[in-house]
Amino acid sequence: MKILVAGGNGYIGSHTLIQLIKNHSFEVVSIDNLSRSQLGTMDRIEKITGEKVMNYNVDLCDKNALFPVIEKEGKIDGIIHFAAFKSVPESIEKPYKYYKNNINSLTNLLDACEQFHIQHFIFSSSCSVYGKVATLPVTEETPIGKALSPYAHTKQIGEDIIQAYAHQHSDFKAIILRYFNPIGADMSGQNGEIVSDEPHSNLMQIIMQTVRSNNKTLTVYGKDYDTRDGSCIRDYIHVTDIADAHVKAIEASTNGTISRPCEIFNLGTGQGITVLEILNAFEKITGKKLNYKIGPRRAGDLPAIYSDSKKAKQILGWECKYNVEDMILSAWKWEQELFQHL
Ligand code: WQD
Repeated sequence: MKILVAGGNGYIGSHTLIQLIKNHSFEVVSIDNLSRSQLGTMDRIEKITGEKVMNYNVDLCDKNALFPVIEKEGKIDGIIHFAAFKSVPESIEKPYKYYKNNINSLTNLLDACEQFHIQHFIFSSSCSVYGKVATLPVTEETPIGKALSPYAHTKQIGEDIIQAYAHQHSDFKAIILRYFNPIGADMSGQNGEIVSDEPHSNLMQIIMQTVRSNNKTLTVYGKDYDTRDGSCIRDYIHVTDIADAHVKAIEASTNGTISRPCEIFNLGTGQGITVLEILNAFEKITGKKLNYKIGPRRAGDLPAIYSDSKKAKQILGWECKYNVEDMILSAWKWEQELFQHL
């Protein structure tokens, strides 16, 4: 079975390629224009798995470049679509860039599904589609609220587009996976996140940037929230657990487990952890002292959000294997691989 991974050179995409190869049931090919990642990922995947993955350096927003690649690849059974811009703060600064890229790339891939009769589609969505949530934990039935950023809005629109396409194409199945906060790196320490744009990094990357530099101080965005230590709560989940969920999803879609045109699953650990708890755990696990200070709240931040991922366990047979210590240790191992002197 051949799976096209759109965005295979990126953080979640590369870890999913590793798990698909390790699963031994799939032939994989990647399409990624490296706009948010760097060369070297396919070499790292080969070093870990022994398999050389073909990546087509093609912009998914360019249909005239995309379609010939899909035609050349012949029969493709499914697409896993990761390729999108994903920085919340950047989407607030450049909303049109986000709508144009994230929506065009999706509709081009769905047009390709129609033209080349590709019947299975896994979509990378986000817990940010829920907006401000009234009750926790968040289930798939939690009402979708107003998006707090253009990034989150592109994911809401993307989900609606996929639902519409799936209901108009009877032999097509889509699975939407709503990630909570993916962190960590492949447990081998040989693959992980490489941030192309430092200012728009997530917490774990900023922790690493803080350790790397002698004069950087991490700011904790608010310690006056109504949480156990005043800092925000998030549901951090190991990137390989997220990757394994994609393998389970494509298996479920292709083996008939999924009967409805479109199914939605939360991907989280179900455990909420505060920012200060993550910082303290990092210091304890790595022995590194973090320079941080308490600053004002960040616009758009939710005080707390964490998941109820029982549905993915019940239907996909998926559950998390890694804990917070694994997430931090693997991220730290990858950081040392990247910056040998640490
Ligand atoms: C986490 C917590 C910050 C940096 C992310 C992605 C989004 C989506 C959901 C997948 C927050 C705090 C951060 C810093 C801090 N993921 N923080 N100081 O905002 O939860 O959203 O997960 O689709 O794409 O952006 O993640 O890592 O930015 O923040 O205090 O220097 O860490 O306030 O509470 P966020 P984040």
